[in-house]
Amino acid sequence: MRKHLLLIVLLMVLPFSAVSGQDAAAVDCGTTDEVTITYVGDPAGGHPAAEAAAIERYMQACPNITVERIEGSANGQELLSTYLSAFEAQSGDFDVIRVDVIWPGVLAPHLLDLTPYVSQEQIDSYLPALVVNDTVDGQLVALPLRIGFGMLYYRTDLLEKYGFAAPPATWDELTEMAQVIQDGERAEGNAEFWGFVWQGNAYEGLTTNALEWQVSNGGGSIVSPEGEIQVNNPETVAAFERAAGWVGTISPPGVTSYAEEDARAMFHAGNAAFMRNWPFAYATSLTSEFIGDKFDVAPLPAGDSGVGAAALGGWHIGVSRYSEHPEAAAAFAAFFTSAESELLYSIATSSPPAVASLYENPDLQAAMPFARPDIVEVTTPRPSTVTAENYNQVSTLYFTAVHSILTGEEDAEVALELLELDLQALLGE
Ligand code: GLC
Repeated sequence: MRKHLLLIVLLMVLPFSAVSGQDAAAVDCGTTDEVTITYVGDPAGGHPAAEAAAIERYMQACPNITVERIEGSANGQELLSTYLSAFEAQSGDFDVIRVDVIWPGVLAPHLLDLTPYVSQEQIDSYLPALVVNDTVDGQLVALPLRIGFGMLYYRTDLLEKYGFAAPPATWDELTEMAQVIQDGERAEGNAEFWGFVWQGNAYEGLTTNALEWQVSNGGGSIVSPEGEIQVNNPETVAAFERAAGWVGTISPPGVTSYAEEDARAMFHAGNAAFMRNWPFAYATSLTSEFIGDKFDVAPLPAGDSGVGAAALGGWHIGVSRYSEHPEAAAAFAAFFTSAESELLYSIATSSPPAVASLYENPDLQAAMPFARPDIVEVTTPRPSTVTAENYNQVSTLYFTAVHSILTGEEDAEVALELLELDLQALLGE
């Protein structure tokens, strides 16, 4: 309950205290012409309200600019193909777009180099690894907005009820604890209760979950930064066999069609002991009616390697090369990812920001105690830099193989042998 109140107080006070630090006259509008630009934003379930608020602040500072928010698909790969078909036709329909942290290599040919439009001071304000991520062939193709990383959400009341002193340190411990809690809750009459929910559908989200299982088991990271294919090894086989064993035991059989929002709905309804999700589920969990004051977060458990792994996620802002209003579009991208705007956006979405100095901000620290400025260094990136324009195919081959193991369609050893061959054919040995 205390967390709950704190969030409400913060949300009430922040828009005023933080904005007062921003000199509206200092906002660069890019142009004095009257122009309308489009921004492809979050659908429901994402953060449409936080985006709309940022757009509102920009339009107040720049009354000559209208930013129209278009809702993009919640499914990353669908969103990417929408972008690519528009860009391949050189369409100016989308001026400013959301760019997943894994897409700079894929989208670089279609995104404007933002270096001439953003001050060096602002570029230097971001966590350096994110600027490296967004720089392709010397061009800064996106500006970082927010960071995601995999974390474990757990029910504090249920851990206490079943006599567990701390969240699980290993996947094996999680498996045991989830089973004990699930058995107990079912025996008390909650037939809908499950131990552990996560993202098992065949999509980009499964790539992040599976990468965490694989890395924490010592199986490598799909493709190493040096280009070595790392999927066909006993550690990865064991990691995926363990996860396949969860399906239908501690996780619902339907978990193999779950995305982030399915897991979140289950956890928020009070029907799951543990959930793997991103930081953005934290704020909505705090305000959830059933579990708002009955949960906490912890690092994801360790596998056989002895340490846990969290996949790096997050979203960045890019400008289309085919925009008819590049100055206004780039100015909006810069405004949206400025320290002032990221502070408000980060707190509203409980997502760690890209601007380094914000980690010292007491309001931000209070809103997300798990945020730390070395997040990028301690998380595992997907192999999107090394595979660049091939990343989307690499990920599709990977999550398709993992999905076939989870559903029992394919044996883990066979699936990973075939995956290795497919990756070799795609990337060359
Ligand atoms: C989150 C992450 C993003 C990732 C996606 C997968 O939105 O921020 O990087 O690709 O989840 O579902």
